[in-house]
Amino acid sequence: MSLPSFSRVPAPPDAILGLTEAFKADPRPNKISLAAGVFVDEAGRTPVLETVIEAERRLAAAAGTKLYRPIDGEQAYRDLVRDLVLGAGHEAVTSGRAVATQTPGGTGGLRVAADFLRQTGSGVTLWMSEPTWPNHPQMFAAAGFRVRTYPYTDETGRRIDEAAMLGALSDAAPGDVVLLHGACHNPTGVDPSPELWRRIGDLIAERGLLPLVDLAYQGFGDGLAEDAAGLMELVRPGAELLVSTSFSKTFSLYAERVGALIVIARDAAAAASAQSHVKIAIRVNYSNPPAHGADIVRTILADADLRARWEVELAAMRNRIKSNRAALVAALESRSIPGDWSGIATQRGMFALLGLSAAQVARLKDEFAVYVVGRGRINVAGLTAANLDPFADAVAAVIKG
Ligand SMILES: Cc1ncc(COP(=O)(O)O)c(C=O)c1O
Repeated sequence: MSLPSFSRVPAPPDAILGLTEAFKADPRPNKISLAAGVFVDEAGRTPVLETVIEAERRLAAAAGTKLYRPIDGEQAYRDLVRDLVLGAGHEAVTSGRAVATQTPGGTGGLRVAADFLRQTGSGVTLWMSEPTWPNHPQMFAAAGFRVRTYPYTDETGRRIDEAAMLGALSDAAPGDVVLLHGACHNPTGVDPSPELWRRIGDLIAERGLLPLVDLAYQGFGDGLAEDAAGLMELVRPGAELLVSTSFSKTFSLYAERVGALIVIARDAAAAASAQSHVKIAIRVNYSNPPAHGADIVRTILADADLRARWEVELAAMRNRIKSNRAALVAALESRSIPGDWSGIATQRGMFALLGLSAAQVARLKDEFAVYVVGRGRINVAGLTAANLDPFADAVAAVIKG
């Protein structure tokens, strides 16, 4: 009889975190990494926001308690976050049919959503864009979903193939869950137009599908309200919707693990019933959420002055990404690299997809010490005055052969 063993087959490293490890171990002095999905400034650092430092100062002075928090988080945090996404005056909020829950980051929000849906029998099949954030398929498969994909961009990777996307979703069965990126699609940086959001909303309503919106970058695209405008197209009278949001990027609170799941039900009674199931999904998983990150976000959002200052800091991050996009397009065009790169300037969020082959990505790493994710996904925030030219030279070399 063989004894159980923990050491049979090692798991592959996480696609993106594994690259970060390889980058750290690379001894070449001129190495460049645009792989990680974190915002960095011109010095390559991810500093703590000034408003976060101020909120932490206030929290320390108030000397609270480390008692357990409610399973779904503090009410004040939950209401502020719900209003940040949906707007305090929206019918879904004033009617009481939208209920927010604090979660450990956006990943936690998605996992709670997945467990809630499976537990209540609300969905078995989940459709996601191809490509998508690599954690999406494995997370929903781990939660017991049958994962299907819908095509997203055309072969250039820089335009949505609307007919292919809507055509695939027309095959979804009533009750299927459709995962959509609320803004700043990862990895393509390409978001639906307002008109396409409307058509997606119509199709979801016609076919009786359940939308789950992953909003991990609200404010990194065009602004807070602007980046929620697409998903608001899905908040129709009596319609159900789930939104998972994250403050990892927008408050630069990566390590604090703070985010939220918002459940929008048919009416207030259905929302209360749904919330009881959300709480069970959490109770059997991590029991109740960590406090510090949520306290920071609550302190900032509840204070008019701090909130205004945070919006300025958020806009500064957004604007850095936008100007880096323009600089990248100029650098690629000036090297006469075949292809139309202009779309990169109008994409949203931290990522751009260069559409490279696996061999080109491998050459970037092996020959030029340039680390990018599969198909040439790059973190645009990671470009600096120092690394832009060497990066563009390396891309030119691998594309021109
Ligand atoms: C599309 C998308 N969803 C969710 C997340 C998860 O964010 P968090 O770190 O808050 O769990 C990320 C993070 O990279 C992401 O890109």
